[in-house]
Amino acid sequence: MKSLIDQLYHTNDLDAENLLQLLNNLNDKNTLYLHRCADKVRKANYQDKVYLRGLIEFTNYCTNNCLYCGIRHANCKADRYRLSKEGIIACCREGYHLGYRTFVLQGGEDPYYTDQKICDIISNIKSDFPECAITLSIGEKSYDSFKRYYDAGTDRYLLRHETNSRELYDYLHPDMSYDNRIRCLYDLKTIGYQIGAGFIVGLPRQTNEDFVRDLRFLKELQPHMVGIGPFIPQKDTPLGRYPSGTVDKTCILLSMIRLLLPKVLLPATTALGTLSPIGRKKGLRAGANVVMPNLTPANVRDKYSLYDGKMNTGDEGAQFLAIIQEGISHAGYIVDMSRGDHLDRQYPI
Ligand code: 5AD
Repeated sequence: MKSLIDQLYHTNDLDAENLLQLLNNLNDKNTLYLHRCADKVRKANYQDKVYLRGLIEFTNYCTNNCLYCGIRHANCKADRYRLSKEGIIACCREGYHLGYRTFVLQGGEDPYYTDQKICDIISNIKSDFPECAITLSIGEKSYDSFKRYYDAGTDRYLLRHETNSRELYDYLHPDMSYDNRIRCLYDLKTIGYQIGAGFIVGLPRQTNEDFVRDLRFLKELQPHMVGIGPFIPQKDTPLGRYPSGTVDKTCILLSMIRLLLPKVLLPATTALGTLSPIGRKKGLRAGANVVMPNLTPANVRDKYSLYDGKMNTGDEGAQFLAIIQEGISHAGYIVDMSRGDHLDRQYPI
């Protein structure tokens, strides 16, 4: 296994057969070696910087019915909320004063926010905070809508592909189309966004073969960011009784992604932090270099319940920035509050 890890480290590539070989046969010793290699590659590209992004979850209405997700349309127990434009801008203002220079606006697929409303929100944020980057994460849209958001000033777009296995995708996403999701990612790239893809780790029916497809897909797509996190059941969903994914498996995949895409911006996600108090630290050690604290107002934050137990202990709130910073510094990293663009897309270009 060590020679396969060396090959991945030196060439930043490994074919499907060898990736599967590696995933099927890793033991504790070579897992540690994999993490060390990934950590070296992260350091060579980004030194010890960990970028912080302020996350604003502005609506939990959603028209989709993803089997795993707590804000799926059919979940009538979800307590729905929407933030107004003024509410969203107030979150940005608070974040700006705390030092954030990237705002991630995330929400369910909510038709209430027409393209016009989204563009209005984006252009207002851009005029108030011109040096900040804005990331949108609001699901699948047409090419024209993506283009309009881009022209309004959006810099980046996150759309996890969730899984690159068509059969698994179809099972998990009733009435959605795998092809359309992939189309969205390529459209976003064509338009000029810095794009983020990613997948869930430890879903029911998911195998190492599926992860190999995800990894090969990412290598081909060459996204600027990759978000992955463990599956965590939410009790009011059809997958509510399935076991969670694991921190260890997520960290192995984080390391592989870092080695396949050396310059990628790779978050240690909230889901990782939810499974274990040291989950995010382990993610950073495995090659991650981004953390996304929550700027969503405290009175609605609980309602964005994609899964149970979602990290909400106070130190998740951006207001507790000092605690977050201390944790990151304690782990041996340096907090970087700048825009944190991808190395190929430094600002101003
Ligand atoms: N467990 C883990 N991740 C989840 N997501 C949604 N529901 C869950 C869950 N139960 C992830 C999806 C989505 C992102 C915003 O949250 O990957 O893209």
